[in-house]
Amino acid sequence: MNPAANGSGPMTVLAVGDVVGAEAATWLAGRLPELRERHEVDWVVVNAENCAVTGPSPMDGFGMTVEVIDTLLAGGVDAVTGGNHSWDGPDVDEVLAYPQVVRPINLDETRGRGLLTLRRADRTLTVLNLLSPTAALPGMKAPQPAPLWPAWTNLRATEPLPGAILIDLHGESPWEKASFAAALDGEISALLGTHTHDPTLRGHILPAGTGYLTELGMTGRLGFTGGGFDPAHFAARLRGEDHTALPPYRLATGELSLGAVVVRVDATGATTSITRVH
Ligand SMILES: [Fe+2]
Ligand SMILES: [Fe+2]
Repeated sequence: MNPAANGSGPMTVLAVGDVVGAEAATWLAGRLPELRERHEVDWVVVNAENCAVTGPSPMDGFGMTVEVIDTLLAGGVDAVTGGNHSWDGPDVDEVLAYPQVVRPINLDETRGRGLLTLRRADRTLTVLNLLSPTAALPGMKAPQPAPLWPAWTNLRATEPLPGAILIDLHGESPWEKASFAAALDGEISALLGTHTHDPTLRGHILPAGTGYLTELGMTGRLGFTGGGFDPAHFAARLRGEDHTALPPYRLATGELSLGAVVVRVDATGATTSITRVH
């Protein structure tokens, strides 16, 4: 396992998938104290790339705002990760400037940071955010990401990456996420997938101790497809219609859902359990 994890004590991470909308962020922030206590959580890592809908288009308007990031941080979030929507909306400069906000690292961007090392007492966790080229659609604001494997080998060679390492891999393909986890087995503590919003059931522990989950799932209202958005625009795009002629995107209605797991990591940096939180 990651030799740098030596000296870092065991730890428990609550990882939460794509928060959709400000209401969901407020709901999550309100639940965090109880979740922290119940699961004895050391670190809370939340993908919040869609926590503020600020525009009518999925090309620029599904991102984050200062106000909603402040809500999450006030609730006790330690690290906020992102993805293809980290560049959306009017507050991009301010949001990326937060020390707790981590944007994808494998692309050409000087603002913000792509990794964050959290330290408290004897517990050290490095959080990394990678954006798969599969999740970067043409026309979006996000810079084009570099291929994952060369990006990782370069990072490993140039960055210290202390403590346990958790990667939020933001991508479309379950097979790519699983292959990347397998390729990194024994080098990182956990790889957790985000971006496709519908949660996958099982967490896995690979032979050399890397924890893996294909998709954390979104946090927000379930609606009809579980994505957190009214799917009318997605359907129109699929039909080849001009979705911009429709009324602006709306958030989904219905039940609020939490896409989250608790990951327990031992003092060698190996994952010992990865469990869904409902
Ligand atoms: Fe998302
Ligand atoms: Fe995404």
